Amino acid sequence: MANRNQPIQDLREWIEDVDKLGELVRVTKPVDRDEEMGAIAYLLGKQHPSPTVLFENPNGFDDNNPIGAKLLWNLVGPSIKRIAITLEEPADTQTIELITKVKGKMANRIPPEEISADDAPIYANTLSGADVDLDLLPIPTHWPMDGGRYGGTGDCVITRDPENGYLNVGTYRMMQHSKTEVGLHLSPGKDARLHIERSWEQGKSVPVAAAWGVDPLFMLVGSQGFPKNISEYEYIGGLKGQAVPVVKAKNSDLLIPANADLVIEGVIEPQATRAEGPFGEFTGYYGAPVRQAPLVKVTDIHFRDNPILTNALMADYPSCEQSGFFAIIRSAKIWDDLDKLGVPGIAGIYAHPASAGGYGLTVISMEQRYAGHASQVLSLAAQVPGGAFFTKWIVAVDEDVDPTSIDEVLWALGSRSNPSDDIDILRNTWSTPLDPSQGDPKLRPYGSKALINACKNHKHMEHFPKRTVLRKEIYESVAAKWEDLELPGDVPNVIAFHKDAPEE
Ligand SMILES: Cc1cc2nc3c(=O)[nH]c(=O)nc-3n(C[C@H](O)[C@H](O)[C@H](O)COP(=O)(O)O)c2cc1C
Repeated sequence: MANRNQPIQDLREWIEDVDKLGELVRVTKPVDRDEEMGAIAYLLGKQHPSPTVLFENPNGFDDNNPIGAKLLWNLVGPSIKRIAITLEEPADTQTIELITKVKGKMANRIPPEEISADDAPIYANTLSGADVDLDLLPIPTHWPMDGGRYGGTGDCVITRDPENGYLNVGTYRMMQHSKTEVGLHLSPGKDARLHIERSWEQGKSVPVAAAWGVDPLFMLVGSQGFPKNISEYEYIGGLKGQAVPVVKAKNSDLLIPANADLVIEGVIEPQATRAEGPFGEFTGYYGAPVRQAPLVKVTDIHFRDNPILTNALMADYPSCEQSGFFAIIRSAKIWDDLDKLGVPGIAGIYAHPASAGGYGLTVISMEQRYAGHASQVLSLAAQVPGGAFFTKWIVAVDEDVDPTSIDEVLWALGSRSNPSDDIDILRNTWSTPLDPSQGDPKLRPYGSKALINACKNHKHMEHFPKRTVLRKEIYESVAAKWEDLELPGDVPNVIAFHKDAPEE
């Protein structure tokens, strides 16, 4: 939090800070890990404020359990305050400011720092070989029709690219198959899937490590589309302002987060798969039907004393774990991608949290500087690495429209767009078998995108009617005497003001 003199070092410090914000609930009474915890997380997700919940006593896991894990749910959820502190910004940072700051920090990559095994808290306890038993962990079932229990949902999975050697840190779910096996679900085109496919082509097995209890910043970064030749560890370090401490895994050359609460290590043998799923997804529907997914044989479980497992419920808005933070970090990533391409005039970007977990609708506000500028921004925002996956609706508005305000965006759509001219469609774009709209699961990896220009028509800019906006001096004088006039509530924020026509 703002008063710390160093960034959050681990999940435990993160929980302390959330507690200081008044957004932590500890449940000490027994709660069932099958559906009951998921139900509580779903319901808490709908509250304002919506707290993080720590289940300290999972039903059926008594004091004799050698691991003694607790479960954390609704990690950052819809709380902008928790999202801000996770990103090492003050809790009261407002949405667009937070997006802008995160974008700025994405430029500062800091490589991870390897520490010795003796100094790594994650190696406090290890179960290896015949002692590996995932049934010792209260791995939960999230939804009634889930295909199994899912560990590692608010997690990060580490794999190494067999060609360029860089470490990928990705957020992917893992379904428990047995005491020693989990499935790894990977959408087409995702980095770990590319690593596995390429290794299998070479007849090689694939080492995997997964942090199932970890500072939520790993999930925030691990779930974004970063370049395939730079490790997410560097972006996590950049956002933290400090190198991530990592330590060599016991059975491979992977580097794992040294301060994590619980890490599993394992190996995927060539062509080893098993039926996995379905799982209640970010769309608010069950995803693809049962499918084959890479099978991980777990060789080790490393954990700190009384580890805390981080769980991410996928659901409709606002109970979907990813919605709130996608609105910040996905927006920042798309903006950063456009900046890197040198596209001028971007005033703000917002991946709306209510639309398919922040994947569905991206709004870009921009200052139109030349003919065709809005069309260029729409096509690029639709296809840059940070924005290409899934997104169906990409809308451009002028800079006098706040992209975070759905009311203002709808006003722009209603008053500035002309559907017969202003909608373009991209077809056969990058999507996922989780998209319910495509019907046949075989078709689902292909999506489409509508590019909607809701900016003032550039061809008729001179004749475009003047908007009814307040004079700035009047707004300020009214705001100054708001209380005196005994008007209710806070003065609403306004970003567009009247400009007198330049004198002849
Ligand atoms: C909580 C959570 C769980 C996720 N689970 C999966 C998953 O099981 N499989 C998958 O392919 N993507 C999953 N995603 C989306 C990926 O994290 C996202 O596409 C990310 O870009 C993947 O990393 P990569 O680009 O390094 O492959 C999940 C995202 C979140 C926030």
